[in-house]
Amino acid sequence: NRGKELFNKLYQDTQLTETEYKELLELHTDKEIAEYGFELARKRQKETFGNEVYTRGLIEISNYCKNDCIYCGIRRSNQNAERYRLSEEEILSCCESGYALGFRTFVLQGGEDGYYTDDLLEDLLHKIKAAYPDCAITLSLGERSRESYERLYTAGADRYLLRHETANEAHYGKIHPAEMSLKNRKQCLYTLKEIGYQVGCGIMVGSPYQTIDNLVEDLAFMKTFNPHMVGIGPFIPQKDTPFGEMEPGSLEMTLFLLAIIRLMLPKVLLPATTALGTIHSRGRELGILAGGNVVMPNLSPVKVRKKYALYDNKICTGEEAAECRGCLGNRMESIGYKLVVSRGDSPFI
Ligand code: 5AD
Ligand code: FES
Repeated sequence: NRGKELFNKLYQDTQLTETEYKELLELHTDKEIAEYGFELARKRQKETFGNEVYTRGLIEISNYCKNDCIYCGIRRSNQNAERYRLSEEEILSCCESGYALGFRTFVLQGGEDGYYTDDLLEDLLHKIKAAYPDCAITLSLGERSRESYERLYTAGADRYLLRHETANEAHYGKIHPAEMSLKNRKQCLYTLKEIGYQVGCGIMVGSPYQTIDNLVEDLAFMKTFNPHMVGIGPFIPQKDTPFGEMEPGSLEMTLFLLAIIRLMLPKVLLPATTALGTIHSRGRELGILAGGNVVMPNLSPVKVRKKYALYDNKICTGEEAAECRGCLGNRMESIGYKLVVSRGDSPFI
């Protein structure tokens, strides 16, 4: 069985040639091959992480964005987005309830919102670090200058998430306006790493116009860049964007890629994302069973959760939102894993 042979090789060598990745990805709908890949990925995951799943409390601080990414529900031209920003007080209060729930990493995520200046963020980071010295802080605030990344690192930020979205120039150009560039995005990733952040790159699976060759390039980029974390989830259309009628990414391809990434980067931090939980009721469980080792439940105040709508039908935005920690704990236990109270740093630092 060629698929199993390729997974075996990937397991042994932690890499394949580009032709082999392509061959393997083309087999992603074969259930037996996929299941075999998941098994090897779990074996790899357990060598480093056992049955422990790391959690991060996600705080969506603002849905204002100066960018106009064509797929994204908070793009600046979406007139239907109800914009909000969290105050410092609100963010600190999310951290407080998060800490009590056992979170030791807070992810501050938002659109590229000029309101959050370096001064403001430094102040906020100092306050979070002073109140919760045993917690890690991850930022996910898009492209900023080297100087800004340096200042935020010095102020206490430990990690930075910046998905590259696609490693292919032409594909990047089809899903972003001309004013944005893949070069700059990749440059940001290298700068962040140089400064000392634990860095995460990543993509949407099944984004419009994405080809298998694009995915092969993404894998090659990930192997070369060697990030501490990789964020991947399915593309999901958002009705107020030009891609509102496009097909969502598939569960099968997302899980298949999670397994490949785990085998390619054995110690990488790999979340089973909310988007994966949105396209399938047990998506996050399946993501962990395919090699993931992180979940990132939402800690944002309930009143803003529906507004941070990157895509349609996002889970955990309703009244159940307060119970996410417990819900996810149960979900992880149902598959033999447990959520741990830990910063969950990269094994490489
Ligand atoms: N579907 C799925 N993921 C999306 N993102 C943005 N818009 C969508 C969408 N429509 C992802 C991007 C971004 C991350 C914060 O959310 O990959 O980097
Ligand atoms: Fe949010 Fe289950 S994780 S309700």
